[in-house]
Amino acid sequence: MVDNNGTQKIVGLAPNREHSFYGRDVVSVNQFSRDDLSYIFKVADEMRALVRRVGATDLLKGHILGNLFYEPSTRTSSSFIAAMERLGGSVIPIHGVQYSSVSKGESLPDTIRTLECYADVIVLRHPEVGASAMAARYASKPVISAGDGTGEHPTQGLLDLYTIYSELGTIDGLHVAMVGDLKYGRTVHSLARLLKLYDTELSFVAPEILRLPQGIRGEMDEAGRPVHETDKLEEVISDADVVYVTRVQKERFADLTEYEQVKDYYVVTPQVMAQAKERMALMHPLPRVGEIHYDVDSDPRAAYFRQMENGMYIRMALLAAVLGKV
Ligand code: NCD
Repeated sequence: MVDNNGTQKIVGLAPNREHSFYGRDVVSVNQFSRDDLSYIFKVADEMRALVRRVGATDLLKGHILGNLFYEPSTRTSSSFIAAMERLGGSVIPIHGVQYSSVSKGESLPDTIRTLECYADVIVLRHPEVGASAMAARYASKPVISAGDGTGEHPTQGLLDLYTIYSELGTIDGLHVAMVGDLKYGRTVHSLARLLKLYDTELSFVAPEILRLPQGIRGEMDEAGRPVHETDKLEEVISDADVVYVTRVQKERFADLTEYEQVKDYYVVTPQVMAQAKERMALMHPLPRVGEIHYDVDSDPRAAYFRQMENGMYIRMALLAAVLGKV
């Protein structure tokens, strides 16, 4: 695995320096190979078993995570906190940046350089594309992106892929349909980039104004993935092994009348699920704002709550790996 600036940062005591994750930033899923992913999934399986058996461990005792969020978050921030604490480490949470020196006009590089005086690893969510890569260049400690604007959300991509694998036992050979806001949805960008490493068929289902960005579409073509684009969910619902539904990202629209036109474009109801395969996974990064009806929640194919739980195991695996403990 190569990070964005090619250097391995030195962190922690008695680390496992041999492993390619040690001391690395995580800013885009394009940095991972299939071997890296198998390794992280294997560690995530162990973390799941550990949490279920004993709840916590002291693997990261004495280590501190700086959790810096410039955008709202429920799942990502709390699962990083839970992951660090279940590994015996502790957390400096900076969520309402209005209460930090950011509100005094401090730049991102200075805030990062401050936090890394106290923390061993930094998790950053920021509204600007490329902010995590920029932070990683300034930081001498590993930076893990928790989403940069409409760019990527690499740890969500990892937990989504891990969920597909956990639910269906394979990734190769699957038909994955991504539905909704493919333009602004950063989780879609990361997951699509990860799926191009596997022998998958991809369907991108979106209204015209929310289609997958050309650049990412081009990456799929270069990787030789068969890609189908449509605005009709009914064209793919009965053939897909995974249906990955997303929220229309209201906060990214310059013109809210455009948002109003597309916000209720897709709604998955029990009637829609009746057309889906018997063995498939219905996923959503959450939060949902109407795209999946509550009556679908009890369907065994509804994987979104398991997906959310998997986020903690994946983040435990990543934290342990970049700090050289696995
Ligand atoms: C996603 C995000 O922040 O991009 N949420 C998450 O981290 N699970 C998806 C979204 O906000 O729609």
